[in-house]
Amino acid sequence: MGARAYTLLESYASSIRASIVEVGGERGEGSTSFLRRFAEQQGVRFHTVDMVNTGMTGEAWLRQVFPTLNERIAFAYLDNFDWTFETFKNEPWLRQQIGDYARAGIAMTNANSMAVHLEQTQLIEPFAADDCAILFDDTWQLPDGPWTGKGGTAIPWLLSRGWRVLETVRPSPEPLDGFALVARGSWERRAVVRKPWRRAWQAGDLSRDFAPIAIASAHRLAPGQTLVLYGMGRNGQTLMRMLLAAGVPVAFIDDHFDGEVDAPRLRLEDLGPRHAVLVTPDASEPILSRLRSCHIAAVWRPEDLFAPA
Ligand SMILES: C[S@@+](CC[C@H](N)C(=O)[O-])C[C@H]1O[C@@H](n2cnc3c(N)ncnc32)[C@H](O)[C@@H]1O
Repeated sequence: MGARAYTLLESYASSIRASIVEVGGERGEGSTSFLRRFAEQQGVRFHTVDMVNTGMTGEAWLRQVFPTLNERIAFAYLDNFDWTFETFKNEPWLRQQIGDYARAGIAMTNANSMAVHLEQTQLIEPFAADDCAILFDDTWQLPDGPWTGKGGTAIPWLLSRGWRVLETVRPSPEPLDGFALVARGSWERRAVVRKPWRRAWQAGDLSRDFAPIAIASAHRLAPGQTLVLYGMGRNGQTLMRMLLAAGVPVAFIDDHFDGEVDAPRLRLEDLGPRHAVLVTPDASEPILSRLRSCHIAAVWRPEDLFAPA
């Protein structure tokens, strides 16, 4: 659902020494152009395959084409066979998507989405480099433990074979920004501050502690979503300055803040599925419990977004 989790790859650049493969190509969420550029910078091959754009399923390509290339895979991004979110199941665009799949002779069910992602994973593994990671979009752990979403069956299979989860979202019934990055070998994370952001900020604005949090929250924002800063104390105001300087769609909630800021003020009851909320006060538990009853895209605390290297 457009979490743009693939941008996490920048934090692992030094681990990538073989090909990058994407299954499920660009459909307005930007993954293909990002990965292509990233591969060029790393000097590795990039392949993208999509049932519609390439006219071949990822499974067929991995079975018939990839083995002829004599390459290994350092990173695979699996974001294909679409997932039916409960949140959206009655939306006209989703009904239309199910119709499109049906016209191609495919039943767009969540069981089939999991099965296809598992099959692709099993086809990738024999070609995985010693240091390899697979990123599943729309994938998460339910509060009572099981994995679900596109990689819901692929992840337990990988874990049973010694792979490990490097990053994912907090367990939740249905986050709209779910993803899971699963790796084997040495995949080492380091904090990355992207250059365009550096240019966007005034020297005096750039706080080393807050920059990675601002970046990570913006990266996780799906197209069309707005980031809501809950709390405009010192933390909130610092983050707000950075996000505005970088052109990120941002609003805030704070009944007591009376400073001037060029962003909309919201109330709790204004929040909806297009809002991702970043809770900025250090004592966040009462706010988090209030937000749990809201129907929103995501709730983050700064520490969920950035673990110092
Ligand atoms: C969520 S979109 C991909 C979005 C893209 N990763 C981005 O960030 O812009 C899912 C895509 O998967 C493709 N797809 C569905 N089933 C597939 C399969 N079995 N193999 C390859 N592509 C598939 C669809 O055509 C669709 O374009």
